[in-house]
Amino acid sequence: MMKYLRKIEDLGISGGMAKWYDKNSRTSRMAELAAYARDISSLIGKADKKPNILEVAPGPGYISIELSKLGNYAITGMDISADFVDISRANAKRENADVNFIQGNVSNMPFMDASFDFLFCSAAFKNFHDPAQALREMYRVLKPGGKGLIIDMNRNASDAALKAVVNDMKLRGFDRFFMSLTFRFFLRNGAYTDAEFESLLAASGFSSWNIEERGIGLYVLMNK
Ligand SMILES: C[S@@+](CC[C@H](N)C(=O)[O-])C[C@H]1O[C@@H](n2cnc3c(N)ncnc32)[C@H](O)[C@@H]1O
Repeated sequence: MMKYLRKIEDLGISGGMAKWYDKNSRTSRMAELAAYARDISSLIGKADKKPNILEVAPGPGYISIELSKLGNYAITGMDISADFVDISRANAKRENADVNFIQGNVSNMPFMDASFDFLFCSAAFKNFHDPAQALREMYRVLKPGGKGLIIDMNRNASDAALKAVVNDMKLRGFDRFFMSLTFRFFLRNGAYTDAEFESLLAASGFSSWNIEERGIGLYVLMNK
């Protein structure tokens, strides 16, 4: 279903669904999101100047907020959903985190060419209406020598692996039922395989990339 819906438009998340996603992330996904932030910080590495970092489609913004605690970074988070921009700004304020959350579409980002040293995008690539254009935009806004990391679900993730991840969320009742169905029938069906990433990347402009399977996800590291 996701595959068909995104042919019509970008799958932004707003209203009650954005509020639910924010609450669920805060209560069940913080360990996972903080681990992503640590991975991203080590990929950024040491820099002479304050690195400019972009998070594409941050939703409630927790990865950027966690990342801001790990180093001296200038972080921008850009999401298509105005509701998520409000939610992520409120989350950053509560945590006293210095992250600039703004609204924008990955297909036409409001940034100059070569603006960022590093960019990342988690659990959102499969939401994009035009994934090839999203990659071209990611390439455009990175500085030469910059890197991008896409983390998203693997279309080839097994049922058993999905079940284990939902179990780890320690949800109950309706939330657990809803999350199991969402993972199996909505998210995984809409996700890309490593082979699909390969062919999208071959047409993107990136000079090299590495695709690694991790749990139910793919880590796609791209070099400009
Ligand atoms: C499943 S959420 C992921 C949020 C967060 N990155 C995370 O890991 O929890 C997908 C996000 O993609 C955003 N989105 C969808 N299409 C977009 C687009 N074309 N440009 C920017 N953001 C987009 C949605 O509004 C939503 O915040």
